[in-house]
Amino acid sequence: MKSSSNQYPSNYASKHLSSHFQLLRYLGFLLLLAFGVTIGMIISFYYKSCTISLQFSQFSLSASQKPPPVSPPPPPILQPIKRLKVSHVSHIAGLKEFLQPSHVIHDMSDEELLWRASMTPKIHDYPFRRVPKVAFLFLVRSNVPLAPLWEVFFRGHEGYFSIYVHSHPSYNGSDKSPLFRGRRIPSKIVEWGRVNMMEAERRLLANALLDFSNQRFVLISESCIPLFNFSTIYFYLMNSTQNYVMAVDEPSAAGRGRYKIQMSPEITLRQWGKGSQWFEMDRELALEVVSDRKYFPVFQKYCNSGSSCCADEHYLQTFVSIKFWKRNANRSLTWVDWSKGGPHPAKFVRPEVTVEFLESLRNQTCKYNGNSKNVCYLFARKFLHTSLTRLMRFAPQVMHL
Ligand SMILES: *[C@@H]1O[C@H](CO)[C@@H](O)[C@H](O)[C@H]1NC(C)=O
Ligand SMILES: *[C@@H]1O[C@H](CO)[C@@H](O)[C@H](O)[C@H]1NC(C)=O
Ligand SMILES: *[C@@H]1O[C@H](CO)[C@@H](O)[C@H](O)[C@H]1NC(C)=O
Ligand SMILES: *[C@@H]1O[C@H](CO)[C@@H](O)[C@H](O)[C@H]1NC(C)=O
Ligand SMILES: *[C@@H]1O[C@H](CO)[C@@H](O)[C@H](O)[C@H]1NC(C)=O
Repeated sequence: MKSSSNQYPSNYASKHLSSHFQLLRYLGFLLLLAFGVTIGMIISFYYKSCTISLQFSQFSLSASQKPPPVSPPPPPILQPIKRLKVSHVSHIAGLKEFLQPSHVIHDMSDEELLWRASMTPKIHDYPFRRVPKVAFLFLVRSNVPLAPLWEVFFRGHEGYFSIYVHSHPSYNGSDKSPLFRGRRIPSKIVEWGRVNMMEAERRLLANALLDFSNQRFVLISESCIPLFNFSTIYFYLMNSTQNYVMAVDEPSAAGRGRYKIQMSPEITLRQWGKGSQWFEMDRELALEVVSDRKYFPVFQKYCNSGSSCCADEHYLQTFVSIKFWKRNANRSLTWVDWSKGGPHPAKFVRPEVTVEFLESLRNQTCKYNGNSKNVCYLFARKFLHTSLTRLMRFAPQVMHL
């Protein structure tokens, strides 16, 4: 009994233990089963999603692929693109040709030229040493008649100026002076009083803007002479804070009388200006002039009938009066004599050109950068070719050339 009773606990314990083990095994099995099922489910889920995405990508692939055509269509023909002509081919692309075109001849239309010239850098510091230059814009019919005087004027100042010549397109002569040789820009016909005169002036400005060193721009006629030497003119222009476009309100027939009512509302009679065609301006204003797409087309449309409008005496004057009057000196730097009346200023021939006369043109008082200065006009016209020998004789003495 004792033994049995003794055994009992042992039996009981062993039985109890074995049932425990069975329960644990059973539980373990269950866990394993659950684990297996879970793994299986996960795998099957992944597999499903994989096949779904596979099917989807297969679908999208098959959707983007066109069914194979019965006979292959001919390959699309690419229209040949009109290539821009490159007149100067250099093997290394650099800044040089961009900053300062080596030739003034180009194949751009006026529209292309003005667009190209209207560009201005957004970075204001130059990554090179920029020596500002004065661009002399010669508006002439054939050659520059007073070229020998200009040669003396420019001698020794290379690098501080550039020259551009606009002449009649039919002029085919060659310039004797090396200064003007190869400086003729692609030109068009210019008629007195017509808007094509102003188109020529914008063409000159645009060509000169292609050279990034050109800072001041002065329009010169074939009968124009310098009154001072180059260094005086250079510093006068470079130190100036203003532009020199003369613009007055003239009530006469030759002033307000040339305004056309069709020009409103873009241009009103109150804004209508008149003044000398011979301007001098800085790069900033020159960029504005070539970029003007609002006022100039109005002039091209309504200011183009013979001598009755004279866009060259009104366009810049009106444009500057409307938008850029703040920095405008409102006077021309080119002296001219209107005292004799008529539609053209006085012409000076040989006997009239004297030392005293030239001295008197040099010795006049004007406002310069807000202060009084006894240098007023830098240029003068109209001097005929016959006066050249006298001008050449007096130039060293009077103009310090
Ligand atoms: C210049 O043009 C004229 C006609 O306008 C012609 O007679 C002459 O031969 C031309 N000269 C040259 C060098 O082409
Ligand atoms: C230029 O002219 C001014 C007077 O207008 C004179 O003082 C100066 O010496 C001249 N310069 C040269 C280089 O001759
Ligand atoms: C212009 O400025 C330069 C340098 O700032 C100076 O040397 C020159 O005398 C000035 N010229 C005039 C005409 O003001
Ligand atoms: C320019 O000056 C004249 C007088 O000389 C004046 O009547 C006119 O209003 C001025 N123009 C501008 C735009 O300041
Ligand atoms: C300039 O003109 C004034 C009078 O307007 C005269 O007093 C002065 O002597 C002249 N100067 C020269 C250098 O001729």
